[in-house]
Amino acid sequence: NRTYKIAVIAGDGIGKEVVPEGLKVLRRAQEKFGFTLEIEEFDFASAEYWQGHGQMLPDDWFELLKPFDAIYFGAVGWPSVVPDHVSLWGSLLQFRRSFDQYVNLRPVKLMPGVKSPLADRKPGEVDFWVVRENTEGEYSEVGGKMFEGTDREVVIQETVMSRTGVDRILKFAFDLAQTREKKHLTSATKSNGIAITMPYWDQRVEEMAQNYPEIDVDKFHIDILTANFVLHPDWFDVVVASNLFGDILSDLGPACTGTIGIVPSANINPERNFPSLFEPVHGSAPDIAGRGIANPIGQIWCGSMMLDHLGERDAAAAVLAAIESTLAAGEYLTGDLGGTATTAELGTAIAEALSR
Ligand code: NAD
Ligand code: IPM
Ligand code: MN
Repeated sequence: NRTYKIAVIAGDGIGKEVVPEGLKVLRRAQEKFGFTLEIEEFDFASAEYWQGHGQMLPDDWFELLKPFDAIYFGAVGWPSVVPDHVSLWGSLLQFRRSFDQYVNLRPVKLMPGVKSPLADRKPGEVDFWVVRENTEGEYSEVGGKMFEGTDREVVIQETVMSRTGVDRILKFAFDLAQTREKKHLTSATKSNGIAITMPYWDQRVEEMAQNYPEIDVDKFHIDILTANFVLHPDWFDVVVASNLFGDILSDLGPACTGTIGIVPSANINPERNFPSLFEPVHGSAPDIAGRGIANPIGQIWCGSMMLDHLGERDAAAAVLAAIESTLAAGEYLTGDLGGTATTAELGTAIAEALSR
């Protein structure tokens, strides 16, 4: 019946400023396209909640959030109050793992009206996806400390790759490449130096490639891959990477397209056993928080990805088109895009563009 239950968690810093703009556009989309969003807002996963409760989430967060169709998330992290590894492992990383959101999908797309720091690149030339493994890899809880406080101190953190974990992210990436015109998949590796897990990753890529003969597959070590994002962004179509490599590539790619402020991410549980989570790539930006100048486009574009996931394809495309036309018009741009508009002015301009 086209009614969707959405949990909204703004989090910290500019999360609190961009989420209202995202909701402004989503509300406009529901009026125009005739579906219903049942929105419930939560104050946990924030520094204030931590100060009041000594933990980032209520004990029953899993049962509380599980019934939702999606989670619309801002950003979390306020290091002057709670150390980042505590706030992130106490919230966002729990959501990703407990809700088995093993795909982190992030676009790298040069948009009209946005100046790329790469000389002479035009929209259309840079348009690819980073598919990041989101539940294992280098982000592991396996490890520990020994001889703490002595000069023999040792800290260890192991990389974990399971066959299921690697194969399912590769399958998602190959399936995505299959839907694309170029049908090209690039794997991020480092099998020359990281000699156990990364050769295993390469081997699983080769095995998966057997099932997709139409797809043109290549791989680069992560060091030269980062260089090629800058030198040859037009080479890429779908780039699949482990958790940490994908994290790095999904800030680098968006930076190459002008600003990380406009880029969304979808943390997806493709089996739909659990809600998927939609959040911008950027963080809480303490350096600009509270001033009403953050770019809301990353959050608004997340709304488009969320609508697409919910099956509201026309609305999703219309939100993206409204972002593009507003950027192309160039009248309301925030500081990171070279303009002087406030967060709310840019959000309103996109909502208006959607109504047209
Ligand atoms: P950040 O993305 O918050 O900020 C990096 C730089 O980009 C800053 O100069 C910031 O002002 C700018 N920026 C980011 N978003 C912007 C926007 N929408 N408009 C204009 N400028 C923008 O990264 P950071 O400084 O490394 O991290 C700050 C905090 O956010 C930390 O606590 C970190 O752990 C957390 N963080 C959270 C997430 C998340 O919730 N998914 C992601 C990244 C970082
Ligand atoms: C991201 C962020 C997170 C990550 C941090 C905040 C733990 O950088 O979503 O890209 O590393 O995954
Ligand atoms: Mn990141």
